[in-house]
Amino acid sequence: MVDISANLSGIHFDSCIMNASGPLDTTLDELVDIAISAAGGVVMKSCTIEAREGNPSPRYMDIEWGSINSMGLPNLGYKYYNEIVPKLKSYGKPLIASIAGVASEEYKKIVEAFNSSNVDILEINLSCPNVVGKPQIGYDFEMSEEIMNVVGDVSEKPWGVKLPPYFDFIHFEEMATILNNTKISFIVSINSIGNALFIDWNSEKVVIKPKGGFGGLGGKYIKPTALANVRKFHELLNKKIKIVGVGGIYTGIDAFEFILSGATLLQLGTSFSQEGPPIFERISKELCQIMGKKGYTTLDDFRGKLKVIE
Ligand SMILES: Cc1cc2nc3c(=O)[nH]c(=O)nc-3n(C[C@H](O)[C@H](O)[C@H](O)COP(=O)(O)O)c2cc1C
Repeated sequence: MVDISANLSGIHFDSCIMNASGPLDTTLDELVDIAISAAGGVVMKSCTIEAREGNPSPRYMDIEWGSINSMGLPNLGYKYYNEIVPKLKSYGKPLIASIAGVASEEYKKIVEAFNSSNVDILEINLSCPNVVGKPQIGYDFEMSEEIMNVVGDVSEKPWGVKLPPYFDFIHFEEMATILNNTKISFIVSINSIGNALFIDWNSEKVVIKPKGGFGGLGGKYIKPTALANVRKFHELLNKKIKIVGVGGIYTGIDAFEFILSGATLLQLGTSFSQEGPPIFERISKELCQIMGKKGYTTLDDFRGKLKVIE
């Protein structure tokens, strides 16, 4: 019997595969669809202090090997997500709240609000715009550290950070040093690859409206970068910090590769947006088949055991 269950911060997930924050998880109806699917857990849309309409449309486009988007964090505000926690928890799955902000006080206020709910885990989204003239928070190491210290001081729930992709070993090392010195229990890696440009050569036009067509890239384009981030952080982080892998997971093979690189849980963004809730059962089955063929019965049998060429 093949078992694809996983444990994060003492919370049991029947399946290691769930949705990523963003696509199809903004309203209660959408979240219930995830809760009644084969997803191992439910992740809510990143929420901010006030509800946001987000950027003008078109702001998401399916493209050849994935997606490009500049949504601008449309969400119903943290109070809405806090209020629907009891309803979502009634489906019996682990529930993860995703928190976004532009300053540490905003993160603090939302974390404090979720403390008094029975949400299981908090995912702190650091891929948010900071002040003008500075990069997004995840690329501003000082600001990232400040937010993690504030969250560590107030959170009564297990929490982790959702990170943007890094590309340079020195940046992995710098971020890993900060992470190893916080009360964090996991990272989610990676968020979209920022500021990509997709062009429709026929109309000679960009495909999304905000920011002159620049947007975050998801899907098959980003799997190698996501795997590299999972692998590098697996090498650099204290073993008690778990890794949630996300980026271009469409098949059981993709899922297998992420676990092999060191991931504990997996999230689906673009592929879930394209295929809808049945994707969780499909990928779970495919992963079980691969494990069965290889003679693995649990994820621990191969987690992190990627081989290198000597
Ligand atoms: C339409 C859309 C909205 C997203 N919104 C969020 C969000 O609110 N919070 C967040 O942490 N990530 C957000 N993301 C990023 C995804 O969670 C994920 O990290 C990224 O798309 C890479 O995974 P993928 O290749 O499976 O799409 C969004 C992605 C998409 C496509």
